[in-house]
This record gives sequence, structure tokens and C-alpha cells, in this order.
Amino acid sequence: MASSAPKPGRLFLVSNRLPITMQQKDGEVQVQLSAGGLATGLAGLHRESGGSWIGWPGMTTADGILSAKVQAALKSQNLVGVGLSPEQHQGYYQNLSNQCIWPLFHYFKERMHYSVTDWEQYVAVNQRFADTVLQQVRPQDTVFVQDFHLMLLPRMLREAMPDLRIGFFLHIPFPSSEVFRIFPQREELLKGALGADVLAFHTLGYVRHFRSAVAHVLGIETHTTRILTEGREVQLLAQPLAIDAFQWEPGPAKGEKEIAQYSQYLRQMAAGRKIILGVERMDYTKGIPERMRAFQAFLAADPSRVNRVMMIQVAVPSRAEVRDYQELKNDVDRLAGSINSEFGHPGLQPLHYLYQSVPPAELKALYRTADVALVTPLRDGLNLVAKEYVASRFEDDGVLILGESTGASWELGEALRVNPFDTSDLVRNLELALTMPIAEQVARMRPMRQRVRSTTVEDWARACIQAIHHSHQTSPAPQFFSSSTQQQVCTSWAQENHQRTVFCDYDGTLREFTGTPGEAVPTAEILQLLGDLCALPKVQAWVVSGRPADLLAHWLPIPGLGLVAEHGAFYRPPHAVDFVPLFTSPQLSWREEALAILQEFTARVPGSRIEEKEVGIAWHYRESDPILGAWQAKELFQHLAEMFMEQGVQVMRGSRVLEVRPAGIHKGNALQTILSEVEHSGFVLAAGDDHTDESMFRALPDSGWSLLIGNRPSKAKLRLDSPAEFRSFLRQLATSSSAPLQADRE
Ligand code: UDP
Ligand code: G6P
Repeated sequence: MASSAPKPGRLFLVSNRLPITMQQKDGEVQVQLSAGGLATGLAGLHRESGGSWIGWPGMTTADGILSAKVQAALKSQNLVGVGLSPEQHQGYYQNLSNQCIWPLFHYFKERMHYSVTDWEQYVAVNQRFADTVLQQVRPQDTVFVQDFHLMLLPRMLREAMPDLRIGFFLHIPFPSSEVFRIFPQREELLKGALGADVLAFHTLGYVRHFRSAVAHVLGIETHTTRILTEGREVQLLAQPLAIDAFQWEPGPAKGEKEIAQYSQYLRQMAAGRKIILGVERMDYTKGIPERMRAFQAFLAADPSRVNRVMMIQVAVPSRAEVRDYQELKNDVDRLAGSINSEFGHPGLQPLHYLYQSVPPAELKALYRTADVALVTPLRDGLNLVAKEYVASRFEDDGVLILGESTGASWELGEALRVNPFDTSDLVRNLELALTMPIAEQVARMRPMRQRVRSTTVEDWARACIQAIHHSHQTSPAPQFFSSSTQQQVCTSWAQENHQRTVFCDYDGTLREFTGTPGEAVPTAEILQLLGDLCALPKVQAWVVSGRPADLLAHWLPIPGLGLVAEHGAFYRPPHAVDFVPLFTSPQLSWREEALAILQEFTARVPGSRIEEKEVGIAWHYRESDPILGAWQAKELFQHLAEMFMEQGVQVMRGSRVLEVRPAGIHKGNALQTILSEVEHSGFVLAAGDDHTDESMFRALPDSGWSLLIGNRPSKAKLRLDSPAEFRSFLRQLATSSSAPLQADRE
């Protein structure tokens, strides 16, 4: 419960790489924290909470174990290392992460190379990370896991330490479920990530894709921002990574002199030409050859442009052991050579291509000097370069051309958006950018810069961590109803001198669901059980159901049994003959309209059907395709809710059913009415499985026992897994007796 939740403990960050550079010289180990990005943004947070950062320090050892010296050097920086052997590094990182998940999630299916041995290494290394984390953390701590290398980690941690607060952030795109489904171990990846309390992505689009993958692959019904699984609620969050804009702006002690010198050098080199800039890792997702070809086409359209425009392309070496990356580099080398030889003159080189990492001062100078940033990845989770260029334009000039398939394009709407695959679109936008009047440049750049300045990396991290804490507090599943607690409840039942009342939902609680609702007739066991309960002195047993009154009376002809029908619209007290309405003259004018809409949806969704009750109308989709059914139910819900919002009509969601009925009718109200009529209520228990039963749990007195059949967050205090377990508990109740009761018997 929120009030009794322990205070969040320390924060631990986990990522594949530690944010460091490490040098080993003359037996000494030196560790230096990298500046900027996640490292700077998160360092403060984990330091202030007393936690640390756990990850791979960047070198392998023959046995996968880090020396005590390395660990000590890491510890001095508040870091904990996870050692990897060359085989583990190859299978887990080079192969499965970089040649399987990375290409697939960026929609490069043909570059995906999957092998079972690599998968086994991925699992083993994730487990290795889990073991290291578990050696460090206590149950009230928070663990924030980063990126696709560690998708199995949340579940491994959850299984070992169920109360741990766990967040997971995916820094790359989550692809459409059609593409995701190609991954052979798709269930494992999803289940692994779902171990977290919060799953965070850069954009709402990725959240949508993830939900759709969960629905298609695991068959779990999802909600806009949450997924119920194994009794827990997993929150989905769209929280794009931010940058610390101030780091890119001019300011004291930021190496301004060096930046100014390099800017001047760039201007001299440009010799009056406008500069187009590209900066990224040498990665096939970044669209470098496509962009160069566009520049080539731009020059070919008017070769005199070479006197007015130049391009600088920084390609930072990356994953150079992987063949696709080597081939990409060869292509780019060749392309750069051919552009320069085709359009260059002695002393005039149109394309400056740097295959290297550039120092921070030079990068700042590049951003500040470039007239146009051409950021056109074919697919990119977010793209920080775009944000950094915007942050650097402290005079609000310059033009950002941004590929529409970057996560950042959701936030940087004033950029010139391009289709990175379409050369002519790129050329057209280059022409626009290079001739854009300064007033338009400012009108576009200023709002983007304000937006980029409005959050920092630390804000991003705090938002994620807050969501983790909040989600952990808001999603308690009831405790399992252990046999010792069952014993305790039976004792309190047996010792009760006052009225004992039991409320049971029918479908999914007393009786298992069946293919069609009509098949769920009560078994002989159920009839016997209810009969035995009703025969006990000072016991009232009630079946509280969404089913129509006639059917309940027909199915459960048990003397002394109380019945509540249509989710609390009618009740029939024990031994009474007729049902009595629990509402005051419902307004039924909405029925016709609602029925017409439900008929329309029934025609659209094969296997769905309408059930007309006396008061409500239900739309069942249990027998329909689960994805189509859930999707249409959501649409129907919204449609009906909007339509009847002001007519005193409510739309209620149950387990694969949606029901329209007058507002204020629910099982909780029925319970309150029934309990208010009992002179001295002592023992009260309510059991149910679906959302409509939550109102019963809420209506119980504090001393009451609420029991969920199933496993999900609920107001109920206790839970059992199945109707069979519930019936066996009821059997125990029915047979528990005590001396005072025996004496009381009339
Ligand atoms: N960057 C760098 N060295 C360079 C050029 C760029 O460290 O020589 C940084 C750049 O400032 C940015 C990051 O690399 O912060 C690239 O991040 P992005 O999200 O654009 O792409 P990723 O490489 O994560 O796919
Ligand atoms: C992307 C990934 C990061 C990764 C980075 C560099 O940004 O999302 O997790 O660290 O690329 O890749 P590398 O393989 O060199 O770590």
C-alpha cells in the first residue's frame, strides 16, 4: 500500500558499458569518468543516493574476472565492474546485441545474424550482470537498467528480489510488432523487460509498438500506459533523453578560446562557402552514404555550387570488428573520394570527411559554425546530435534538416523534416536550408532551442526514477492466501458469534470460465457447496453476479441463498421469492442508441455477441480474436463513454466484456445495502476475479476479508489462483465449526 511502502533506498544504474576510459600502465590502473551525456547527468543522482553504477569496464579478461586492482580503481569512482571473457564479449555484445537486436530494432532485418550459441551467451551475460547487481542491492533499492544489451535483466532481478524497484530504458527504437516478431526469442525479450516496474522509451510511438508486441506475442491485453502481468502492473513511459543545453552554450571556463580558434580555422577553410555538417558514429543506421549521395546530386544539379557550399562529415569509428561496419566504411571512403574527384578543384574540396572522434572543443566549434546540420539517420532511437546542434545555436540562426525516422523529430518539429531514403527530398531541403532567410531560421530555431533548454539529463533521470517509485507504490498485488492464513480465517469464522456473510462472484470465481457463457452451468460440487454454506446457522451466502436475475434463479435454486444480479441492479434476499431493484427508476432512453452501436461492433468483430439484460446491455468478446476484440472494445468504450457522458449512463469494462448501464449501479452498492440490513454483521468475506468486483472489495468494512481470484493489482487483501482453490477454501469454511456455534444452534 502507498502509505506503508518503505522509503526508496539507493539508486543503482546498470548499463553494458561503464562511462569511463581506463588505462593500465606499469601495473597501475587509472579510471577516468567520461564527460557529458548520461554519465554526467546521472552521476549526481547515484552519488547522492549512495548507490553505484554497474557495467562492463571495456576490456575482456581470459577468465572473465576483473582483477582486484581494476575493481578497486572502479570503486574509487563509485563504479562496480562486470568482467567478460572474450567469448562472452563476442557472443553477447558483438553478435547478439550488435548484429541481431541492433539491426532488427532499426528495421535492418537482412543484417540480422542470429545463432543459438550467441543467444545463450546473451542469457549468460545478462545473468552475470544480475548476479553482480544482486550482490550490491537491498530490496528497497532502485535499479535503473539501460538499453538493449540487458533486456533480460529486469526479470532476472525481479525473480531473485521481488520487491526491488526496477526501471528499464530502451535507448534505441522499439520496432513495429511485425518486425519485432522476427526475433526468434521474442517471448523471452518481452518477458525479460516486463520484469521492470517501469519500461521507458524515447517516444510514444515506441510505447505503442511495445504494447502491440506484447499483445501479439504474449497475448496479454495492454492499456495505454500500463500492462498487467503476473500480478504486477508495469508502467510504460515515453520520456525522451535530454541534454544539458548549457554545456553547448558559450560560457566561462568552457574552453572558449580553443572553440573560437577552431571556428576561425573552419571559416578560413570554408572561404566564404556555407557549411553543411554531418556528425555521427560510422553506423549503417545513420544514413551516411545516402546523405553523401544527396550532396553529390545537389552538386551535380549545379556544379557551380561547389564555390558556395561545402560539407563536413564526421564519422566516429564504431563497432569496427563487425563486418557490416567495415563494409560501410569502405563504401563511405569510396564515395567521399568520388565526390571530391568529381566536383573538387585544386585547393577546393567540397567534402571534408573525417573518420575519427573529434575533441569536445572542435565539436562545439563545428556545431556553432555550420550553417546547416544534416541529421538524416535512416532510423534512430532519438539522436542527440540534433539536440546538440540546436543547443549550440545561441543566436538562434542555422538550419536543422532532420530525418523523420529519428526519435528527436517528435520534439524538434520546427526542423526541416525529410525522408532520409529519398535523395530528391534531401536535395530539395538542402536548397531550402541554404537559401533560408535569417528571419525564418530564427523563427524555427528559437522554439526548438527553448524546448531543448527546458530539461536537463538529470530532469530526464529524475522523471524516470520518480515513475519507478510511483509505479512500485501503486501496483501492489494482494498477498497469496496461504494455508496458514486460511486456517486463521476459518478460526475467526468459527468463533464468530454474529452474522457471517459471504459474497461470491460467479464466473471466474466460483466457476471456471467456459468457451461460451451458456456452458458455465453450476456443477454439482458448486451446488452442494453453496447448499452446505446456506444450511449453516448465522450464515448468509450471496452470489453477486453480472448475470441476469432469471438465469441466476434458474441455475442456483438453493434455499437460503441470496442473489445479486446484473452487477448490483437487482437483489433477492435469502428465502425471498422475487428480485428487488437496487436503483431508482433508471432512465432507459439510451438503450436503443446503445444497442445500435453494439450491433455495429458485433458485425465488425467475429465471435462477439450482445447480451441484453433487464437494465444493462453487455458486449462479450471472449470468443473473438484477442487483439481485434481488445482493440475494438477500447474504441467502443471511448465511443459510448463520450456519447452517454451526460446521460447518467456508465460504460463498464469486465473480463473480455463491456457493459452499458445506468450510472451508480455496481456490486459495491449492493453490498452496502445488504450489509446495512444485517443487524450485527461479524465475519464478512467477498471474493471476485474481475474489475467489476473491485467495488465489492472497496465496500467491505475494514475488518472484512477480500479475496481476489487471479493475480493482478487489486484492492483485495488476499488472493488465490483459481476457482478450484477458492472452492476448496469454501469447503474448509463450510466444515469449520465451533463450540459456541453448536451451542447457538436453534
Ligand atoms: N560525439 C562524440 N564524439 C564525436 C562526435 C560525437 O562523443 O567525435 C557524441 C555526440 O556529441 C553525441 C553522441 O556522440 O552526444 C552521439 O549520440 P546520438 O544519440 O546522436 O547517436 P548514437 O551514437 O547514440 O547512436
Ligand atoms: C547507441 C546505444 C548505446 C551504445 C552506443 C554506442 O547509442 O543505444 O547503448 O552505447 O550506441 O555503441 P557501442 O556499441 O560502442 O557501445
